[in-house]
Amino acid sequence: MSPRKIIIDTDPGQDDAVAILLALASPQEIDLLGITCVAGNVPLELTSKNARIICELAGKTDVPVYAGCDRPMGRELVTAEHVHGRTGLDGPDLPDPQMPLSDGHAVDFIIDTLRTQPAGSVTLCPIGPLTNIATAFNKAPDIVEKVHEIVLMGGAYFEVGNVTPTAEFNIYVDPQAADIVFTSGVPIVAMPLDVTHQVLVTKPRNKALRALATPVGTAVAQMTDFFERYDREKYGSEGAPLHDPCVIAYLIQPDLFSGRHINVEIETTSELTMGMTVADWWGVTDRKANATFIGGVDSQGFFDLLTERLARL
Ligand code: RIB
Ligand code: CA
Repeated sequence: MSPRKIIIDTDPGQDDAVAILLALASPQEIDLLGITCVAGNVPLELTSKNARIICELAGKTDVPVYAGCDRPMGRELVTAEHVHGRTGLDGPDLPDPQMPLSDGHAVDFIIDTLRTQPAGSVTLCPIGPLTNIATAFNKAPDIVEKVHEIVLMGGAYFEVGNVTPTAEFNIYVDPQAADIVFTSGVPIVAMPLDVTHQVLVTKPRNKALRALATPVGTAVAQMTDFFERYDREKYGSEGAPLHDPCVIAYLIQPDLFSGRHINVEIETTSELTMGMTVADWWGVTDRKANATFIGGVDSQGFFDLLTERLARL
């Protein structure tokens, strides 16, 4: 089977970094057309720098990296340095990138790619706030029907919020953009906190990453050692949740995951519940299903896949 053409839209962030590395390590399954960066965990200047740092760590400097939107569509930017550190990639000491940003805006790269690739051949993989994706859909409505699928990290139902009592960070930062994406009609697979909180980098798993004894394995172990602090303190978790790599692992081995095709709507009005993903998991409304909402994962199978693939870099 030919590799799936994807664009990763990202706000690195340690977990974004692991997702990018997993994609770069899996060329048989994934043809990474480009990386588009958005403001989120840290400001755009840092997310677009961090994406290049990760490409160079993997030795894959031929992947174009674009800078995109530096703020949400209709709200002030909220960042997460308290989780990811000042740089967004705290943990390892990685050199500044030598590879340049690609010319042009990330939104135009998304539009141009969808207009030039065969219709229905490109999957969008947003793992940060959805600002770039929604802006592209607004600027070029003709591309919406050309998207094969959107596989994203965002939202929560049973796990409720991680940035407010009701909202997950990616959706909360730009709820207007999320509403545009979830009402676009494009087939969506959503990886909410309900599943990402099941894939924790426990001490044995961190040890297995260090045991790779490669620059990638060591850097990922150092990233997750740093990144786990927030979830350990807040949730008593046994390690860092690898939110974003769930998106890439799904593309490679979908049978690791399970979920339901349900209606998901985004709160964009009430400040009390702003950014909440109102997921009709129990089918109590007649609202049309618009997303496959993932709730289960074989977490050890996920880590076995991740570790085996990272060993290839
Ligand atoms: O809530 C988790 C999400 O927010 C992840 O994508 C993480 O990188 C941050 O962007
Ligand atoms: Ca992210």
